Amino acid sequence: QRPVRRLLSYPGTVAADLRREEQPAGSAETGSEDRTPKKRFCEVQSERREQAQRTVLIHCPSKISEKRFLKYLSQHGPINNHFFYESFGLYAVVEFHQKESVASLQSVTRTPSLGAEAAIPFRSRYFSLKLKNPSNQTSGQPSVQCSNQSSPASRKLFDLLCCAENVDDQLNTLTKELQLTEENTRLRHLTCSLIEDVAAAYFPDCAIRPFGSSVNSFGKLGCDLDMFLDLDDIGKFSAHKASGNFLMEFQVKNVPSERIASQKILSVIGECLDHFGPGCVGVQKILNARCPLVRFSHQASGFQCDLTTNNRIALRSSELLYIYGALDSRVRALVFTVRCWARAHSLTSSIPGAWITNFSLTIMVIFFLQRRSPPILPTLDYLKTLADAEDKCIIEGHNCTFVRDLNKIKPSGNTETLELLLKEFFEYFGNFAFNKNSINIRQGKEQNKPESSPLHIQNPFETSLNISKNVSQSQLQKFVDLARESAWILHQEDKGRPSPSGNQPWGLAALLLPSVANGVSLAKKKKPASERIKNLLESIKSGPENSTNTNGKR
Ligand code: GTP
Ligand code: MG
Repeated sequence: QRPVRRLLSYPGTVAADLRREEQPAGSAETGSEDRTPKKRFCEVQSERREQAQRTVLIHCPSKISEKRFLKYLSQHGPINNHFFYESFGLYAVVEFHQKESVASLQSVTRTPSLGAEAAIPFRSRYFSLKLKNPSNQTSGQPSVQCSNQSSPASRKLFDLLCCAENVDDQLNTLTKELQLTEENTRLRHLTCSLIEDVAAAYFPDCAIRPFGSSVNSFGKLGCDLDMFLDLDDIGKFSAHKASGNFLMEFQVKNVPSERIASQKILSVIGECLDHFGPGCVGVQKILNARCPLVRFSHQASGFQCDLTTNNRIALRSSELLYIYGALDSRVRALVFTVRCWARAHSLTSSIPGAWITNFSLTIMVIFFLQRRSPPILPTLDYLKTLADAEDKCIIEGHNCTFVRDLNKIKPSGNTETLELLLKEFFEYFGNFAFNKNSINIRQGKEQNKPESSPLHIQNPFETSLNISKNVSQSQLQKFVDLARESAWILHQEDKGRPSPSGNQPWGLAALLLPSVANGVSLAKKKKPASERIKNLLESIKSGPENSTNTNGKR
């Protein structure tokens, strides 16, 4: 049987992933020694998009012969890759070698007759396979092996951490266990591509592009799928310059502002997904948010999706994070760890509110790594100086230029261990002058806070904005208390090393335990009730409609 592959989905190609998989555990994940040329973000994204367009999603009967299934599908052309997964039923993701095979499969597919109900006919790439003779097909066949799409249970993760050799090994293990797998990455791109098919009913030349943690290399299994509707290709001038005296323009419908245009577009796409999108359920149109969005669940993939339009700056932020994540393997290990630590102590939440976001935590880690001596990561201003003419990028008047070719950036000479960095991270932010300083990855230095929000993290591209404006004083205090306590735990001799008896949580495992918050919960108890009520009100106030904290759409 085909083994379930847990590939490292990042960065770049499947071939690169396979090469890495062959290396001894951990070696591809530690240190900055991996010097294989790295692909540009846009190359990875266009390869993934093209791959997704040759791919189909099939809901299968629970007992199926893999061999016969593949033989049947191969009638439509050679298959490059496939995998099965479970999500309220058995599903197969099948990548054909050619796009034509998808059309061929669609041409022999029928619309179901549903008896009393009526179907809305839509030729999607999401199929349902029925067996003509179930008993005959499955006799004696083993059922297929499924690839896992969710993050490991806390217990399992905890045990793995306790078995690690040292703290560095713990951080690398955590990253390996939580990161998106090759299969999950494919499923994310396929989901965008399936949504694109629906949106194309209105806008034939549109693209649905994933952004955020699905593509920035910091995604954890189970994270949401952020996507945006890109209509730039429709708006672009034709390549052929108009000659002569005439200038042709499309007849368009005018609306008073860009925002209203986005709301109208998302409104119809939301309707379309709700009425015609196979597997799209719970469609919510959140059009009054600062950045309007449509939120829905894609049932078959299990992804919670957030669809926006015109989100080029967020895509650019994703590319920047991708670059930072690829420069040194310690970056991802530290980001995954800090995000997981924050989640374990309820510093972050899936509900928008006064809490810190994963995006802000990532920027804090990047900033901290820029402050090391020698720095582990370069500043954004430095990445701008490495840019050439074709990297130039201005979006809505904001200069978003930085070098896109990763191979032009010199690796850091810093050799600090992950253990030291984690300790120092907690110490650094446990003692940071949040009351007067702002975090700024553009310059890699603290700046005076331009406004009075408790936590000020400059938006890297829209520099007058604060990405953590939503964070309340009490949430910041909770972060600081936990950071101090975690630094203290890591400094304790006996907590930093595997316990001789093997039954005491140590290192990172000790940091993730709720008991770590004991001191903090004491601190919390000391807080007046009024503060706790204020905090609660703040989080209720910032529901999805008026939140500044949802998915970068502000
Ligand atoms: P997850 O928590 O794993 O979903 O991380 P994420 O990075 O995907 O965060 P989220 O879904 O909240 O936001 C998606 C993307 O929007 C981020 O990666 C950023 O690029 C961008 N983003 C998020 N928050 C902000 C913000 O406050 N300001 C700006 N400008 N962009 C943001
Ligand atoms: Mg996200």
